[in-house]
Amino acid sequence: MEYRIALLKGDGIGPEITESAVQVLETVGARFGHRFVFEPYLIGGAAIDAVGEPLPDKTVEGCLASDSVLLGAVGGPKWDALPADMRPEKALLGIRAALGLYMNLRPAKLFPALKGASPLREDLTAQGFDILIVRELTGGIYFGEHGTRTGRYGEEAFDTECYSVYEIERIGKAAFEAARKRSGRLVSVDKANVLESSRLWRRTMHRLAESYPDVAYSDLYVDNAAMQLVRDPQQFDVIVTSNLFGDILSDEASQLTGSIGMLASASLGETKRGLFEPIHGSAPDIAGKDLANPAAMILSGAMMLRYAFGLADEADAVENAVDAVLARGCHTADIVGDSGVRPLSGSAMTAELLRELGGQRAGSARRY
Ligand code: IPM
Ligand code: MG
Repeated sequence: MEYRIALLKGDGIGPEITESAVQVLETVGARFGHRFVFEPYLIGGAAIDAVGEPLPDKTVEGCLASDSVLLGAVGGPKWDALPADMRPEKALLGIRAALGLYMNLRPAKLFPALKGASPLREDLTAQGFDILIVRELTGGIYFGEHGTRTGRYGEEAFDTECYSVYEIERIGKAAFEAARKRSGRLVSVDKANVLESSRLWRRTMHRLAESYPDVAYSDLYVDNAAMQLVRDPQQFDVIVTSNLFGDILSDEASQLTGSIGMLASASLGETKRGLFEPIHGSAPDIAGKDLANPAAMILSGAMMLRYAFGLADEADAVENAVDAVLARGCHTADIVGDSGVRPLSGSAMTAELLRELGGQRAGSARRY
């Protein structure tokens, strides 16, 4: 089979980690008999520099015409002073909206080899944890009414959180279905003790729960959820939440796994075409130094194989290779922890993965 992949490298470490992912995907393709055709498009600061806007029409059209989209990261200090509509981040929100990607899956799994890199006490990581955060991605405060005005105290700015029953139901159903395929537990996170939008969120989730009696459902307020994540991450299976809360909780969860450099994500909508990107940013401080951990990007590639193309064996092969390489003690600087091992560069880590992929046989280990 041939698959067309729109490649949005973006800024900072984006180009180096997407290069790693391309190499890994090509190796998997060669092994399983698929051809991946990568078509690069501009996005973020790189697009601002080249054509004067963060999300050129050509990029959106290219993504719409592709089978799937692989994205590195956008943003950096160079573009921080630009007006809101011209910022690289605007491109990210724009492409998610343009492709209708309302569902963002962010798995946070503790790799056994990385227990030492987690900031949690040993007894809290002993059993490991495997959490799937289902983040609503095209609604809420990110896309609500916003602006500046003159108020009682002079200049003020506002952003509004708004959710429709329709939006809550579609992300809720996705989360219940995901929980069904995993260990059958779902926690919905909101702030229903304060926010009207959260009260509608909670009512809608409760109504949905009646159709999923096989899923053990509960709610948590977001402040409590943030605390429970560090207190006892093993209690969680699937978490469903709004755009903003999902953004914050997924960064928190990532750190529990040792490094944000390990967390992949899949953004999906009604069509099979998804957008796959690490949850981390463009890390301008280490860009171009070959220090970045390519794992989150490579694991995002694995999620693409699984979700966009339905290539489960191929996705397993990539994920197993990451497991195996970590277990052999190959760690980039962000995940060496207190192990005392010498950190690998991003390209050396990629080379280890390619070697591993060349030799190993596919098996099935992951559930997401
Ligand atoms: C993420 C990022 C983005 C978000 C930013 C860069 C706009 O933090 O994907 O988590 O908030 O969605
Ligand atoms: Mg974020």
